[in-house]
Amino acid sequence: MSLVDKIAKLKKEKNAVILAHNYQRPEIQDIADYVGDSIELSRKAMEEDAELIVFSAVDFMAESAAILNPGKKVLLPSLGARCPMAQMLTVDEIKRWKVRYPQVPVVLYVNTFGAAKAHCDICCTSANAVEVVESLDSSTVLFGPDRNLAEYVQRKTGKTVIPIPEWGFCPTHLLFQPEDIQVLKAQYPRAMVMAHPECSFEVQRVSDFVGSTSQMCRYAKQSGAETFIVGSEEGILHRLRKENPEKRFVLGYDGAVCPNMKLNTLDRIYMSLKEERHVVVVPESVARQARKALLRMFEVA
Ligand code: 13P
Ligand code: SF4
Repeated sequence: MSLVDKIAKLKKEKNAVILAHNYQRPEIQDIADYVGDSIELSRKAMEEDAELIVFSAVDFMAESAAILNPGKKVLLPSLGARCPMAQMLTVDEIKRWKVRYPQVPVVLYVNTFGAAKAHCDICCTSANAVEVVESLDSSTVLFGPDRNLAEYVQRKTGKTVIPIPEWGFCPTHLLFQPEDIQVLKAQYPRAMVMAHPECSFEVQRVSDFVGSTSQMCRYAKQSGAETFIVGSEEGILHRLRKENPEKRFVLGYDGAVCPNMKLNTLDRIYMSLKEERHVVVVPESVARQARKALLRMFEVA
């Protein structure tokens, strides 16, 4: 029996579902029950009545699913599939900023750990950050941990968005450079440029569309353009090409790979299902507060 068949068999036996992020390897996207961006995957985890959720992504995403679904078992196939950006914002750092700005609401990108989320007022993703900040009755917000996303939200809302920490970033999206995009634009003059808001302002400035991973997929589908230069992790190209076989997608930087997302393999998904590992555990005292911030986001966006 092939590995893919073994996974399908185990999934059925255990009433499991496989949720995969848009950055997962092509072979994982192809066997997943659902492929999406971080907010879509969180929603899906709540809708599914499966007992077991294999969350093929990185830690903070699986953690959000566990926080939102206390009755379900959430598995992260690869131990240590960490998002370095999530590690950049500690609880102590949030507390320090709260002391400096006691009346200012704290908005945290979902790319944070549960313990950090438990200290914020509301969460957001790259798909709804602007809406979330606009919904708050405050002209100033503390926003972490991605500085580029914070600046993007400030430009879009006109509010004062204070990045916490001052320097948070995604190591993969930082690799995109406006010069490389310009080279590709010269090569494909009719191409549309799409970028994730984790890219620098300089890259966003030379882009025609800035949005979350699934928003880029929707943009490419409805656009009349034939060629797209993509400023995001290379895994997204698989979905883009699959959904738009007649269009051309070119990565804005050939080395844009998130090594943590790529830790997940079909083998690890199989072992995860078979041995029910690695179970994501969030203490209820932390989960209770973090859940409030996540649910508030769903109410707004
Ligand atoms: P999305 O919410 O757009 O899927 O982004 C998550 C992420 O980690 C991007 O690097
Ligand atoms: Fe984190 Fe960047 Fe990887 Fe997204 S691409 S999971 S932000 S390191």
